[in-house]
Amino acid sequence: MGTLPKAVQLLEKGWTISPIMQEIYSYPYKKIVKREAQLAEIKHGERILSLGCGAIPFTAIFLREITGNPVTALDVDPVALEKAETLLKKRGLRNITLKLGNGASIDLSEYSVVVTALQVEPKKEILNNFFGTAPKGARLVMRAPRKIFYSSYEPVPVGYKPQGEVSQPMITFGKSLLYKGEKNNV
Ligand SMILES: C[S@@+](CC[C@H](N)C(=O)[O-])C[C@H]1O[C@@H](n2cnc3c(N)ncnc32)[C@H](O)[C@@H]1O
Repeated sequence: MGTLPKAVQLLEKGWTISPIMQEIYSYPYKKIVKREAQLAEIKHGERILSLGCGAIPFTAIFLREITGNPVTALDVDPVALEKAETLLKKRGLRNITLKLGNGASIDLSEYSVVVTALQVEPKKEILNNFFGTAPKGARLVMRAPRKIFYSSYEPVPVGYKPQGEVSQPMITFGKSLLYKGEKNNV
């Protein structure tokens, strides 16, 4: 993992004690997640996975807020999950399930929508795992880093053709890509 994502990961952990910093940090993402929910055409009741939720699981929080659907927030880092658990409890958010695991290898068969954080890796294995285990018709949304950030954030692998995309006005990523769960996608 590059220096920038490592720093973000550390800052997230530190900011779990500051509601103001959480608010400032996550504020721009509400619109980002709304566009992603529209891109994936999330329907009522679909199970959603926020892949790489971090200590401040704002993608999961916004997905739950926007759709009202059941959301699971996954992270490979047990410390981030512990902090996320405390944060969700403090905010009284009981409808988000936290899960420890690696998005490149966990069984995704119970989820029809997967939304990945910019920092997730290895992206190729995550996509392969999605195509291999998610049900047909499932959608995966992947944030694609801008070229100038390729040394910090792993780019989306070539050879995987997205079925849709939406522009995102972020410094580190300019779009979110949509993949659909069909095994002949690669
Ligand atoms: C720093 S967070 C930022 C996410 C942000 N809080 C959100 O809600 O979108 C990114 C997290 O992704 C996790 N991560 C990276 N690769 C992963 C993978 N393959 N499976 C699960 N979690 C992963 C990291 O451990 C890190 O905590």
